[in-house]
Amino acid sequence: MKYAEIRVEPPGPKAKKIVEDTMNTLSPSIDRFYPLVVDSAHGCLVKDVDGNTYIDMNSGLGVLSVGSTPREVVDAVTSQAKKFIHYSYTDFYYQNVTSLAKKLFEITPGTFEKRAYFGNSGAEAVEAAIKLARYHTKRPRIMAFTGAFHGRTMGAVSLTASKTKQMRGFSPLLPGVTHVPYPYCYRCPFGKSYPDCGYFCIDYIKDQVLDKYVPADEVSSIFFEPIQGEGGYVVPPDDYFKRLQKIAKDNGILLVDDEVQSGMGRTGRWFAIEHFDIVPDMILIAKGIAAGMPLSALVTGKDTMDWQPGAHASTFGANPVAVESALATISMIEKKKLLQNAEKLGRHMMKRLEEMKEKYEIIGDVRGKGLMVGVEIVKDKKSKEYGVKEMQSIIDYSWKHGALLISCGKSTVRIFPPLIMEQDMLDEGLDIFESAVKLNNKS
Ligand SMILES: Cc1ncc(COP(=O)(O)O)c(C=O)c1O
Repeated sequence: MKYAEIRVEPPGPKAKKIVEDTMNTLSPSIDRFYPLVVDSAHGCLVKDVDGNTYIDMNSGLGVLSVGSTPREVVDAVTSQAKKFIHYSYTDFYYQNVTSLAKKLFEITPGTFEKRAYFGNSGAEAVEAAIKLARYHTKRPRIMAFTGAFHGRTMGAVSLTASKTKQMRGFSPLLPGVTHVPYPYCYRCPFGKSYPDCGYFCIDYIKDQVLDKYVPADEVSSIFFEPIQGEGGYVVPPDDYFKRLQKIAKDNGILLVDDEVQSGMGRTGRWFAIEHFDIVPDMILIAKGIAAGMPLSALVTGKDTMDWQPGAHASTFGANPVAVESALATISMIEKKKLLQNAEKLGRHMMKRLEEMKEKYEIIGDVRGKGLMVGVEIVKDKKSKEYGVKEMQSIIDYSWKHGALLISCGKSTVRIFPPLIMEQDMLDEGLDIFESAVKLNNKS
C-alpha cells in the first residue's frame, strides 16, 4: 500500500464516539454508507479522526472533482471571504456571478444566447427548472424516468423514482408527473435486448404514454439524467436521446438535462449529454461545480428564461464565495486538462473492470463513461439476481482496507474518484476493490 493506511480498525474509538453523538443529535432521516468520520481531506486522500488514511473513490459524493482543499480553490475562497461573504444577488448586484454565468455559457452545449439562474443545491436547480418549464410553456405536466433521482425537496422528490423510502409518507406529491421506464438495458423493463429491441422504450413513450393517457400538449418538460446516478449508473444506448429529443421537439416539450451528478467533466466531457450528441433545452448543474461550496445552476436559452422579476429567487443563491470557488474549479479543470485525464483514466479503469468481469461470477455488468463507472454485483451472471449482500460486503471491506467506495441502484458499486486522480492511486483503490470482490465471489 502506497497511499491508504489503516492504523486502527475503522470505526476507531474516536469515530464511534462521534457516530453516537450524531445519532443522538441529528435527523435520523439520513442514511449513511458506513461510519467514516472525516477529520481532514487533501487531494484524493481522506483522513479519519482515528488517523486512518483512505483513497477517495467517490469524490465526497461526486462533489470534489478537483480533489479536496486544492490550493487554487482555498486561495480564491479566502480572498473573496476577506472582501465580502454575502450580499444577496437576488436583491443587489456583484460582478463575479456574471463571469461565472458567461463561463458556463461557454462550456454548456449549444451556441445560442443563454441565461443562468443560481441556487445552492441540486434540488434547488431542479425546483427552478420545474417552475420555469411550467411558466414558459404554460403547460402543467412533467415527465421523468423510473430510477431517476432529482433530489429531496417536494418538487424534486416528485420527479424522483429511485427508492420508495424516499417518498413514503410524503404524499400527495406534485400532481401531473408521469414516470416512464429508463433505458436500463442490462435489466430491460420490457424484457427485451438491445439492439434487437429497436428502441421499443421510445415507441412506448410515443405510442402508449403520449397517445393514450398523457396529452402531449399538456406536457411542459421531460426531466432526465444522461447517465442515471442514484438509479445505478445506467448508461442509455447511443441513439436514445436523439430519439427522445425528436418526441420532445415534435410536441413542443422541453428537455431538461439533470447533470447534477454527471456534469462538470465527470465523464470526460464537460457534460455527459455531449456523448449523445444532442443539445438539451435546460441543463442543471451542482455537485462538482464549486469544489464543495454549495452552488447550483440552471442554464437555458434566453428565450426560454422568460419569467418576470419576482417570479423566482433565493437569498443564498450565487453566494460570492461559492462563485469564486466555481471559477477556480473550472480554471483548474481547464489548466490541468482534467477532462482528458477523466477520459484516459476512465478507459484504464474500464479495461481493468472488464477483466474482473471475465474473472468473477458476481460481476454482472460494468458500465459508465470517463470517471463515472458502475459495477453491478449479482449472485451469478445467469440469474442476474441482485447481489445486495455481496455489494454491501464489498463496500464495507473496501472502506476497512482504505478505499472509499459507495453504492447505487440495488446492488451497484459506483466508482467516481476526483478528476485529478493519478493512475497509480486509482490502481491501488481498484486492487482493494478486487480483493473485496474475490472474497465475495462464490466460484
Ligand atoms: C442527478 C441528481 N440530481 C439532483 C440531485 C440533488 O442534489 P442535492 O443533493 O444537491 O439537492 C442529485 C443528488 O445526488 C443528483 O444525483
